[in-house]
Amino acid sequence: MAGGDAPHFRRLVVIGLGLIGGSLALAARQNALAATVVGCDERQQSLDEGLALGIIDEVEPDPAQAVAGADLVVMAVPVQANAEVLERIRGTLPETAILTDVGSVKGRFVADVEHAFGHLPANVVPGHPIAGSEKNGVGAASASLFERHKVILTPSDSTDSTALSILAAFWSACGAEVLTMPVARHDEVLAATSHLPHLIAFSLVDTLAGEEDNQDIFRYAAGGFRDFTRIAASDPVMWRDIFLSNRDAVLEVLTHFSQDLDQLRGAIESGDGRRLLQVFTRAKAARDHFSRMLSGEAYLTTMNNESVRYRAIAGGPVRGDIRVPGDKSMSHRAIMLGALADGITEVEGFLEGEDSLATLQAFRDMGVTIEGPERGFVRIHGVGLHGLQQPHGPLYLGNSGTAMRLFAGLMAAQSFDAELTGDESLTRRPMERVATPLRTMGARIDTAEGGRPPLRITGNQRLKGIDYELPVASAQVKSCLLLAGLYAEGETIITEPAPTRDHTERMLNGFGYPVAREGAKARLRGGGSLTAMPIDVPADISSATFFIVAAAITEGSDLWLRHVGVNPTRIGVINILRQMGADISLHDEREAGGEPVADLRIRYAPLSGIRIPEDQVPLAIDEFPAIFIAAANASGRTELTGAAELRVKESDRIQVMADGLGTLGVTHEVRDDGIVIEGGPYGGGRVDSHGDHRIAMAFAVAALRASGPIDIDDCANVATSFPGFVELANQVGLSIQVSGETA
Ligand code: S3P
Repeated sequence: MAGGDAPHFRRLVVIGLGLIGGSLALAARQNALAATVVGCDERQQSLDEGLALGIIDEVEPDPAQAVAGADLVVMAVPVQANAEVLERIRGTLPETAILTDVGSVKGRFVADVEHAFGHLPANVVPGHPIAGSEKNGVGAASASLFERHKVILTPSDSTDSTALSILAAFWSACGAEVLTMPVARHDEVLAATSHLPHLIAFSLVDTLAGEEDNQDIFRYAAGGFRDFTRIAASDPVMWRDIFLSNRDAVLEVLTHFSQDLDQLRGAIESGDGRRLLQVFTRAKAARDHFSRMLSGEAYLTTMNNESVRYRAIAGGPVRGDIRVPGDKSMSHRAIMLGALADGITEVEGFLEGEDSLATLQAFRDMGVTIEGPERGFVRIHGVGLHGLQQPHGPLYLGNSGTAMRLFAGLMAAQSFDAELTGDESLTRRPMERVATPLRTMGARIDTAEGGRPPLRITGNQRLKGIDYELPVASAQVKSCLLLAGLYAEGETIITEPAPTRDHTERMLNGFGYPVAREGAKARLRGGGSLTAMPIDVPADISSATFFIVAAAITEGSDLWLRHVGVNPTRIGVINILRQMGADISLHDEREAGGEPVADLRIRYAPLSGIRIPEDQVPLAIDEFPAIFIAAANASGRTELTGAAELRVKESDRIQVMADGLGTLGVTHEVRDDGIVIEGGPYGGGRVDSHGDHRIAMAFAVAALRASGPIDIDDCANVATSFPGFVELANQVGLSIQVSGETA
């Protein structure tokens, strides 16, 4: 919550001049938040020190005297001392004064106030700065202690809203970020995140100090011990009081922790390395995720972060020798099939983008042990087709339509219920296309209004094979039904109206699960099993496309792209650009893990507009934003039809691209199922990617040939498919600046 203008108090009284009280008094003085700051403490020495250090203006050892005439009173005494202090100030505290505290336990403070005053006065606003250090005493006070730290205020229904906003503004003026939450919730959260870790640190140091050879233990204690036990040097009296005051919430989380610790003990005793690895990898992932969250980079926090903006300017030539990150479609499938296989699957080249990381996390949430990712390497401990466990909550699939549709097929066949959710863009995407045929197979699936996510899937249904003609050419729907078919009785046969990417079929075959392919049909029989195999994920041709187009439109360019997946169901972009005159050659064509791979060389050559063959559309479905930029740089007109699917991708890619092209001054005409683009010179301007990663990257490429800078809004989602895009682009001759990343 944002505080308003900085308040100015006549008389600010801080009762309890320790580290927190002293720091707050000092911050108030340095930020000119009070005319007089009064220190009150039963220890004269603290008062003298506070005065000498310029932390307070006045001293008053008697709380009853101190609060007379105050307009803000902050209680910063140990939690257990609150009751007595409240009794003493009750008679002299002005009715209009705001009373707050800084304790770690809010329920107890509220109870003490109610006991002393007979009710909870409207001007009492409990507070808790999440700041401190293992140092104690007023001598350690620092005016910057609260800067960029959170302060939680816990108002009740009867709290005066003016008092609340004045106090919030006061803390904001001290540099803190102010949040509000109910008292009980605060105490539960703190029991888990602060109180329990302190208890464990105190206990561990005490245990080790009691060992006979404790000298050696402490002498040889490595960094880990030091890091872990730093907080055991905190103030014992304060912590005694906290545990006595927050008894119930602490006991609850302690019980939980003790059970988990007993399980780990059991795993060590019985040599259950699998269990240990499962806990450790899950914990490591959670810890890494927290670190990224705290630095504003986690997928949950960056998704839909509209503040990331690119400014791209003309540049080139595009030259270099690079490898773009791993294929997104294959990365999702590698995790899924690896998890369902018997044995350990090792994956190289895994895409560490937010979408595939969300898939990885979802399988961890279903009890699968997954090591990594570590520079593209992932080791998946498969649980077999029937080994997934019910997740504790909904499975969050980020921005990924592929994940949601493939998961739908898989979850429909499990013995437990599941809920699939995602970010705001995913919530708008059509899911009926998978729900309807899955229901025909016997699945129970509820969607939100209009067939949109979230999907609620009821487990324990018996699925039957299906013979289904896809109404739209969609690899996602095909794959969804094939995955459900693994569990279905009898045969599942899918016929597609036009070829779409066949990674699921290839990878299933690689895992030893036979999928027959006859023309437009893919068929498999339920009831088999998958055997783990190593997977080498090639570079993503969809990510490579931005560089292919960049080199194809910029004079003097000569670019190598290494180890790119060139599966015939994915090379529509190469076919289309070649037809436009692009100079793209494939070198060292080879096979890696059942997928064709090649090195690509792209040299500049003038492009001409074409009528894009409709049979190429499914084979280039994700590449159109970049192909439109190629068209804008070609001579003559390029015409696309039969591409209505583009309207239901991460954004309406026909309209959003048309809007951006219009801003740049590119002549175009929008059709229901496509677009016509007239090539020619264009300018700069400000375009909105609508949070669509591929549109953001396409306009960054367009800037190479624009006569002015292109500012692109809402680019955070580039991280879903192409982490490191800007660095790689700038390395080969593009010129992109990023702003607003940490907002
Ligand atoms: C994908 C299939 C395509 C594509 C998507 C990935 C896949 O979607 O657009 O980015 O991995 O199966 P459709 O098959 O729905 O067109």
